[in-house]
Amino acid sequence: MNVISTHIGQPVSRIDGVAKVTGQAKYAAEAHPPGMLYGVVVNSPIARGRIETIHDAEARQVPGVIEVMTHLNRPHAALFEKSYMDGLGVPGVPYRPLHDGEIHFNGQPVAVVLAETFEAAREAAMVVRVDYERWPHNADFEVALHQKYMPSKTRSNYVPPKPRGDAAAAYALSAVKIEGRYHLAPEHHNPMEMHATTAIVEDDGTFTVWDKTQGPQAVQAYLASALSLSKDQVRVRNPYVGGAFGSGLRAVYNVFLATLAAEMLKRAVRVTLTRSQMFTHAFRPEAVMDIALGASRDGTLQSMIVKGVTDTSRFEHNIENIVIWGLINYKCPNATADYKVAPRDTYTSSDMRAPGAATGVNLLEMAIDEMAYACSMDPLAFRLHNYSDIDAMHDMPLTSKALRDAMAQGAQHFGWHDRSMMPGSMRDGRELIGWGMATGIWDAMFSPTSARARLGQDGRLHIATAASDIGTGTYTILAQTAAEAFGMPLDRIDVELGDSTLPECPTEGGSWTAASAGAAVWLACLSLRRKLIDMLARSENAPPWVKQDTVTLEGGILHDMTENGPVSLSLPDALSLAGYDALEAEETAKPGLRGKISQMRKARFTHSAVFCEVRVDPELDTVRVTRLLNAVAAGRIMNPKTAASQIRGAMVMATGMALHEESLMDERVDRFMNHNFAEYHIPAHADIPDMDVLFVNEHDDEVSPLGVKGIGEIGMCGTAAAIANAIFHATGRRYRNLPIMPGA
Ligand code: MOS
Repeated sequence: MNVISTHIGQPVSRIDGVAKVTGQAKYAAEAHPPGMLYGVVVNSPIARGRIETIHDAEARQVPGVIEVMTHLNRPHAALFEKSYMDGLGVPGVPYRPLHDGEIHFNGQPVAVVLAETFEAAREAAMVVRVDYERWPHNADFEVALHQKYMPSKTRSNYVPPKPRGDAAAAYALSAVKIEGRYHLAPEHHNPMEMHATTAIVEDDGTFTVWDKTQGPQAVQAYLASALSLSKDQVRVRNPYVGGAFGSGLRAVYNVFLATLAAEMLKRAVRVTLTRSQMFTHAFRPEAVMDIALGASRDGTLQSMIVKGVTDTSRFEHNIENIVIWGLINYKCPNATADYKVAPRDTYTSSDMRAPGAATGVNLLEMAIDEMAYACSMDPLAFRLHNYSDIDAMHDMPLTSKALRDAMAQGAQHFGWHDRSMMPGSMRDGRELIGWGMATGIWDAMFSPTSARARLGQDGRLHIATAASDIGTGTYTILAQTAAEAFGMPLDRIDVELGDSTLPECPTEGGSWTAASAGAAVWLACLSLRRKLIDMLARSENAPPWVKQDTVTLEGGILHDMTENGPVSLSLPDALSLAGYDALEAEETAKPGLRGKISQMRKARFTHSAVFCEVRVDPELDTVRVTRLLNAVAAGRIMNPKTAASQIRGAMVMATGMALHEESLMDERVDRFMNHNFAEYHIPAHADIPDMDVLFVNEHDDEVSPLGVKGIGEIGMCGTAAAIANAIFHATGRRYRNLPIMPGA
C-alpha cells in the first residue's frame, strides 16, 4: 500500500511511556482483588523420580496458611495429555503441573502453599518436606549427544534442510577448508518482570486471569482445555508485559497453578515466580554445530556441511531451525545440513529471541569469518563475493534483500575500510583493538490477525486487538497506523491490547506483530472510515457535500472544497448526523491480502550487517565491546525510535550471548546452578558501548500488506558473531564456544 506517511515512519515516543514510568501501568502481579491469597510454589530438588510422601503438617501450622495444594488434593483437571498442548505445538507429552507424583525435571513444582500473606506462604513453603524415590537422570549435554535423534513429529515451523549438489565430494576437492565444532551455552530469558499470575473468581464463577504472557488467547485456550472449562469461562488479560523474549510463548506453570488454586478455594490467588524459579522453565537450548566449509583459492564457497544438535527434554521434542541459515543466505553450489535433538532430564528448552537463528546464524558467521581468513580475504569482501540474491536453499526468489546496502552503509558508517587485515595489528597502548563483522538473517513472518476500530461520540478512535506489547512498542505503532489510515491526530487514539476477549491475534512472537496487527488495524480503520462516510452520504440530515469519493478525513475532521468555499464537519457531529452514538468496524488481515500470487512463491527474510570494535587487554584477559553498529534491512520501519530500541536491546542481549550469559548445569543434581543475577551474568551499563542502528531503505510490497518485516529479533542475529570475530581480529585467537569467557 502506498502510504503517504504523516504518522507511520515517524519517531513517535511510546504512548504508554508515561503510564509505565509513573506506575499506572499494572502488571500481572499488581492486580489486588479483595480476599486475595498468595501462592508460593515448592519445587523439586531432584531431577527424576517419584514423590513418596509429602510432609505438610508443619507448613499448615504457619499462621495465615490456608492450604497446601499438591497432586494429592488438587481439584480435578483434564486427564488427557493433549488437553495440555499449548499454542506452540511442541510434540511429545506436555508437562502437566501437579498431575501426579512423577518428577521429570529439577525445579518441577510439587506443591503450592496458599496463605493470607506472601510472607506466611513463603515461610510455610520452606518447611514443606518431600520424600522422593530417586531415579537415574542425565542433563549433561555431552552425554545426551549420544542419544540424539530426529523426532518423527516436529513443530510446524521446522523446515527440513534441502541439500544441493554433492557437498561431501566438493569439500574433499576444495583447495581451502575449515572444519570445527561450534558451541553455544544454554541461556535463560530473564525478562525484568518475573512470570506471575493473579487469578480471580468472578461472582458468576468465571475466571479473570491476569498473566504475564505473550499470548492471552493462547493461555485462555490452554486454561480452558487443561481445566475442562469452556473458553467463555476464562478471560486472560496482559495489558502490560515487562519483557519476555519467548519465555511467555508457552503457558508457564504459575498460570495453571494460580487458576487451579483459585478454583479450589473459590478465592483470588496470586502466584509469582522468584528470579530463581525463572530458571525452572523455558531456556534457550544448548547447541553444537559441526561446520565444514570448502572454498576455491579465489574465495568462492564450494561446499557447506552443517550438522547441528540442540537439547530438548525427555518428554517433549523441541526443535530449532539452527542449520538452515547459511544454506539460505550464501551462494554455494554444494550444501547439506543435518539436525537432531538430544534429550536431557530438564524442562523443555524453548524459543528465545530469534530461536534457531540466534544460535545458527551466529555460529555459522563465526565459521564464515574463519573461512574468509583462510582465503586471505576481507570478511566483508568474502561475504559479498558469495552473496546470494535468492533463497539458495529453496531456490526461491525473495520479496527483497537489501543486505548489500546494509553491508555498504554499515561499513561506511563504521569506517570498516580503514581496518588492517592482520590480527593483532591495531593496538592502542596496552590494548589490542579488533574489528569484526557478520551478517544476520531472520524470517519476515505474517500471521492472520483481526482488529476492531470504533469511533465514539467523544470523537476518539478506539483500536482493539488481542495483541501483546511485551515492551516492543506495539501500542505506539498501532496508534500510528490507525492515525494514518483513519486521518486522526495521534492523541485522539486509544489502543487496547492484552485481553483474550478482543479480536483474534496470534501470540506475540517471531517478529510478526508489527506486520500482522499493523495490517489488521490498517484495514479496520479504512473500513470504518468508508462506513462512516457511507452512512453520512445516505443520511438525510448530513450535508450534501459528504460523498465517498471526494470527502477527506484529515486531522480528525471531515472536509471538502465546494463552490462556496471550504466545508467541514467534526467527527462527533458526523456521528450524530448519521444517527449513531458510535460506529465500529472489524477486519481480518490475511496473507495474500493484496492478491499477488507471487507472495506464496517468494521467500521472505529480514537482513542485517553488524560491525563491532572490541578492546582486549591481554594482561588482564578482559574484553570490552567499544563500538557496535547494526545496519538493518527490515522493509518499512513503522517508528524509527521504537525500532532502534528493539535493535539496541537485541544487541545488548547478543553481547550477553557473546561474553556473559551461560546457564551452568550442576550435573550431580541436574539443576541450573547459577539461578540468580549474582552468578548468571547479563551485560550491565558498563558493558554496553556506543551503539548505532541504521535502517536501510527497503521497499517491499510483497512481504506483508504494509511492507513491514518486523525488527524484534534480527538484532540478535550476527551480533554475537561480530563480537567473536572482532576478538579474533584483536588477538589472533579463534574461539568456537559462546560465551567467550576469561581464561577460555
Ligand atoms: Mo519470540 S522467541 O518468538 O518470543
